[in-house]
Amino acid sequence: MTPELVLNNGVAMPALGLGVFQSPPEETAAAVETALKVGYRHVDTARVYGNEADVGAGVRESGVARGEVFVTTKLWNADQGYDAALRAFDASLKRLGLEYVDLYLIHWPVAEKRLDSWRALERIHAEGRARSIGVSNFLVPHLEELLGKARRVPAVNQIELTPFLQRRETRALCAKHGIVVEAYSPLTHGLRLDHPVVKDVARRAGRSVAQVLLRWGLQQGLVVLPKSTKPARIAENGALFDFTLDDRAMNELDALEEGLVTGWDPAEQP
Ligand SMILES: NC(=O)c1ccc[n+]([C@@H]2O[C@H](COP(=O)([O-])OP(=O)(O)OC[C@H]3O[C@@H](n4cnc5c(N)ncnc54)[C@H](OP(=O)(O)O)[C@@H]3O)[C@@H](O)[C@H]2O)c1
Repeated sequence: MTPELVLNNGVAMPALGLGVFQSPPEETAAAVETALKVGYRHVDTARVYGNEADVGAGVRESGVARGEVFVTTKLWNADQGYDAALRAFDASLKRLGLEYVDLYLIHWPVAEKRLDSWRALERIHAEGRARSIGVSNFLVPHLEELLGKARRVPAVNQIELTPFLQRRETRALCAKHGIVVEAYSPLTHGLRLDHPVVKDVARRAGRSVAQVLLRWGLQQGLVVLPKSTKPARIAENGALFDFTLDDRAMNELDALEEGLVTGWDPAEQP
């Protein structure tokens, strides 16, 4: 059973989720099924990943009850704005083949449109079609603008987060407002899996580098979203709840900040 965090609307969210960015559609349903079999209860997709239908199929084929799986999808940039967002949400739900999602996120803080998009998400939430709503790639200026206008505080902010990119100011603001932070690309998109400090921590813990990076995130109070389509790695990345990293290990990992952004940097988004 994956530990859960309770969101600011009372909804429980599993602290580990399977990421499916760049999971080929033809491999995605099987990856979701594998993850659910080994104990994951949370899947993170997006309109732009092109595999919502396969995520829905994987959830159905797994035999795990819909109510036990936390499904997230996201509003893509081209669909931002009030009316467009409402239409995009309907289309996502249809592709997923679900009656509701557990979390709907604004994928990126598109200037001029993100506040209108948020009003659409508030409506979708009020209608009960998304149990929770939140944002992704929102840093302090984006969050401050939204918090000044929103009727509902986002439940979640999904941002890139690893020991190499810790976004401390954004996390402090989220903590102040009860916004749970999800760590995306928690395995550095593969870029720091041979880092000597992480390897040394892994050796001492008797665990893999991937498990150490994910466990660091969990012990920081984050939700972690590792992606793999390989069954052995999906299982490895899910085996996080029978060990802890000690203070020495956590301190060594905390010292690795280097501002490593592996994808787009939202700091460049006005
Ligand atoms: N909101 C956003 O803007 C945003 C942006 C990026 C990502 N995300 C979310 O975060 C999820 C994860 O991020 P990500 O896909 O960028 O990167 P990631 O999870 O940090 O890394 C994935 C890479 O690591 C490999 N890998 C996985 N497990 C491994 C293991 N145990 N040992 C060695 N290598 C391993 C994967 O290869 P294989 O698949 O071949 O195993 C893949 O190449 C995404 O799928 C998505 O759900 C969100």
